Amino acid sequence: MSMKIGRNDPCWCGSGRKYKACHQRFDDRIQMVAATGRPVPNHEIIKNAEQIEKIKESCKVNIAILDYLEENIHEGMSTAEIDKIVYEMTTDMGGIPAPLNYQGYPYSVCTSLNDQVCHGFPSEKVVLKSGDIMNVDCSTILDGYFSDSSRMFCIGEIGEEKERLVRVTKECVEIGLREVKPWGFLGDMGQAVHDHAFANGYTVVREIGGHGVGLEFHEDPWVSYNSRRGEEMLLVPGMIFTIEPMVNMGGVEIYTDPANDWEVYTKDHKPSAQWEIMVLVTEDGNEVLCY
Ligand code: MF3
Ligand code: CO
Repeated sequence: MSMKIGRNDPCWCGSGRKYKACHQRFDDRIQMVAATGRPVPNHEIIKNAEQIEKIKESCKVNIAILDYLEENIHEGMSTAEIDKIVYEMTTDMGGIPAPLNYQGYPYSVCTSLNDQVCHGFPSEKVVLKSGDIMNVDCSTILDGYFSDSSRMFCIGEIGEEKERLVRVTKECVEIGLREVKPWGFLGDMGQAVHDHAFANGYTVVREIGGHGVGLEFHEDPWVSYNSRRGEEMLLVPGMIFTIEPMVNMGGVEIYTDPANDWEVYTKDHKPSAQWEIMVLVTEDGNEVLCY
């Protein structure tokens, strides 16, 4: 963070107002927390009103796709068909699927079934059947702005055990969300997520977390759910990040398929679930931008 702005210089946020009348007190408050040794956000990840509006437009595309899939996913459908729907809907709405070619990822969406933790490849060979639980992780670039969210889809009769995993994972996100407020800490959310999963006998994946998002696909901060209250990055208005815990029915251990270096599975092959939302820190709490 640059501390070199003069009191009468224009504010870094782009408001056109003088620094002293805009974000100077805000920056002073951040610096007081930084002095305690905790990580604090830099200006690059604090979004202004104009950027937030653009990001919300991107979110609308993402939400529309997941809403459509909720109505149309069915037993007997292949996950390759889901990939095709995501590509076509995104481009029809003027967007680009963010996963496509991202670090070499070869599809428009991630479809992760049962013991797949994340980054599942859509495939003609993966045909949805009764009892499957699937995460569809959808991300959009619209006019250069990024959105990212995912939901669980339950096919036919999944049984009580999987139903509980899917429900508790969603509750983890909702309970974590309540902890997102300005001048709190990311660890307030992380611990709330972890504690709820743990109280239900589940584990939360450690290696893969959430992230800042909006101007890039993946920005700071990295978002852990194995963090402690009062720890991790300070939250300030204008930050946008994902809450996307991967909750395992069994052990916490995972591995990546060496055949493609993408698809992640639970080591014990028990099911894993994930829901992902994008949240904006506001002046008085938070706002969910994408789900
Ligand atoms: N959408 C995923 C996330 O939540 C990112 C997947 S990386 C990809 O961060 F390349 F597979 F898209
Ligand atoms: Co994400």
